[in-house]
Amino acid sequence: MSVRHFLRLSDFSPVELRALLQRAIALKQIQHAGERYAPCAGRTLAMIFEKSSTRTRVSFETGMAQLGGHALFLSPRDTQLGRGESIEDTAKVISRMVDMVMIRTFGHDNLVRFAAASRVPVINGLSDDHHPCQLLADLMTATEHWGDLRGKTVAYIGDGANNMAHSWMEAARIFDFQLRIGSPAGYAPTAEMLRTGDNHVTVQHTASAAVRGVHLIVTDVWTSMGQEKETAARKAILGPFQVNADLIASAAPDALFMHCLPAHRGEEVSAEVIDGPQSVVWEEAENRLHAQKALMEFLFGIGPVAALQGD
Ligand code: CP
Ligand code: NVA
Repeated sequence: MSVRHFLRLSDFSPVELRALLQRAIALKQIQHAGERYAPCAGRTLAMIFEKSSTRTRVSFETGMAQLGGHALFLSPRDTQLGRGESIEDTAKVISRMVDMVMIRTFGHDNLVRFAAASRVPVINGLSDDHHPCQLLADLMTATEHWGDLRGKTVAYIGDGANNMAHSWMEAARIFDFQLRIGSPAGYAPTAEMLRTGDNHVTVQHTASAAVRGVHLIVTDVWTSMGQEKETAARKAILGPFQVNADLIASAAPDALFMHCLPAHRGEEVSAEVIDGPQSVVWEEAENRLHAQKALMEFLFGIGPVAALQGD
């Protein structure tokens, strides 16, 4: 079988993704019980970071250590990639030495090019267009709370054209829930991305219309990495899309709140919401570790879910 990559959520089948979430929950229980599960001795993960990170770096590096393997942090500042060595040459060389590669980059095409030249699985640790590892953690968190997302309604409020919005759109189709994107004009998903979400996704141009009766409210920063020059303009336009207590009052009474973090209290979310009783952001962050351990195990072809490859 050809090498599998995880560049966007839809690279895996619904069957594979559902099994992966259950495996992540099982690996979390193993970790919390203090048991050792380390089937990856002698294996190495290379992590290439072209953008900053706290959660992604710590969760992949720690996850690989817990699985018994080793993770290498590579910054373009210190590698030849930053001095113009091509993506293809870098992929050919690195993938002859390591067993898996995780990349955080700008253009999604960089990942596609790297994966095409790689002999080993490549994981998207965030690109301008997708953040599938974050969705594994978010969907795992929702699964822990509800058992299944089927039939639920989720509101994604804010920048509807960024990596998190796109990955939530793919999730809605795969996991069969309704997603309402609440974004101002000019910040809605592109027509191409809306097709990706098919009839599971609708766009609302007010936050209040998007959150009415929903089971989960999600937001993200207004200015993603790489868009820093647009910060002032984005604050002005996205201001009415803050997730605050007034807004979430019209969601379902027990609605959950998620944010991939880092958060800006007073901008996209108020402190009372992110630090309040409906917020699950800390378990969501922790779940990056467990979900990515399940992902790496699967891509290494080990563990119970690997047998499902291709289903
Ligand atoms: N949510 C997330 O990907 O966080 P980091 O940017 O800290 O990795
Ligand atoms: N949309 C954000 C997510 C950060 C984890 C960004 O790309 O900066």
